[in-house]
Amino acid sequence: MTNLANKLYAVTQEKSGVTRLTLTDFRNYAFLRINADLSPIIITGENGSGKTNILEAISFLTPGRGIRGARLADIKRITPALIPDEYSPTGISNTNWAVSATIQKSGEETEIGTAVEKSARETDDDDIRSFDRRIVKIDGNKISSQSELGRYISAIWLTPQMDRLFRGGSQPRRSFLDRLVYAFDVEHAKRTATFEHYYKEWYQLLKAGTPDNNWLFSLEDNMAALGVAIAAARREQIAKLNNFIEAEPDDTFPNVILELDGTIEKMLDEKPAVEVEDFYRNKLFSQRRNVIYNDNVDGVNRTDFKVYYKKKRMPADLCSTGEQKSLLISIILAQTKCQTLDKGFAPVLLLDEVVAHLDDTKREALLEKIRDLNVQAWITSTDAELFSSLRNEAQFLEVRNNQVF
Ligand SMILES: Nc1ncnc2c1ncn2[C@@H]1O[C@H](COP(=O)(O)OP(=O)(O)O)[C@@H](O)[C@H]1O
Ligand SMILES: [Mg+2]
Repeated sequence: MTNLANKLYAVTQEKSGVTRLTLTDFRNYAFLRINADLSPIIITGENGSGKTNILEAISFLTPGRGIRGARLADIKRITPALIPDEYSPTGISNTNWAVSATIQKSGEETEIGTAVEKSARETDDDDIRSFDRRIVKIDGNKISSQSELGRYISAIWLTPQMDRLFRGGSQPRRSFLDRLVYAFDVEHAKRTATFEHYYKEWYQLLKAGTPDNNWLFSLEDNMAALGVAIAAARREQIAKLNNFIEAEPDDTFPNVILELDGTIEKMLDEKPAVEVEDFYRNKLFSQRRNVIYNDNVDGVNRTDFKVYYKKKRMPADLCSTGEQKSLLISIILAQTKCQTLDKGFAPVLLLDEVVAHLDDTKREALLEKIRDLNVQAWITSTDAELFSSLRNEAQFLEVRNNQVF
């Protein structure tokens, strides 16, 4: 074993993950409880049976909107009786969804709960949804920032939607990258959320036409400071992964080179952070008119995350669909290892329909890597047969009639 493999082995002897998961009125589940092993967990069932919903529930134990980027109001279980119609205009139900879990990490157990809380303004007829708020409790205590969760659990996911990650707009790639950063730097979740909040406010103020100049300056000040911190954290993450991949290339999945394409990130190559901050503040000021004329506003909100197939020197968007999947797996494996070493505990992997498009060799290689990494991986598939090599190590669950067997 290499030095690094030894270190990884030592860390992962203390397994981490979700040992008990309880869903209440979450998607298709009125009530569901799973007692889980800290091993691969294979979830099978027909299309639409609720496999992805279980992974989504676990993803809500981490900051953000989960694997589907869902709106909170869409998650609450709908039954035909609860769907409002013209005869029951007040058909918004009181039941709300909740996910609770027992988490194990470094031999210690923590209870995490998350649910939606309705704010007082929910009766506003125009937009009921925007007043739902996700609350998080750790060991029964409500926490003010979701980023706290990162101290107890971290999750990395791969979903069929991500098959299109390398094609199309940069936003999903940026979120993907930012999630990789959260895992190392819990403050990054808060920073990106706060930046977005200020940005929206700045944008709306400018659009409104009669802006308060002092307020705009103060927002630009805050955005520049946060933006440079965001850019720096992204750079650090990319460098960490590139170095790791250079030192520990994968033997099966194509290795990648990662690159950031963003004005602020690039400028940090050449200038100290304070200067970049000044530049960004001035840039925001000079882009006020872009908002008014509906032009793009450059900055960390537009940064792109580029991936190359290292051996072929090929940009990921030009690779085949199968290759793109393999590139993503390769990034995720590197991140898993990197993160485990850095944080001292392994992330939970949420792999939605991942093996379907892999050939036998790649599938078996992936399963073997998961087994060797000693991580808890929740893997969905319509076909349990594909996992026969994990027969003795994995927990097999089947979803049927909104229950798990
Ligand atoms: N809010 C909701 N309430 C009730 N059922 C839901 C809700 N949202 C989605 N569903 C149902 O969940 C099912 C999809 O579950 P999913 O986990 O994606 O299935 P799969 O097993 O194919 O991954 C669909 O049948 C859908 O109708
Ligand atoms: Mg699914």
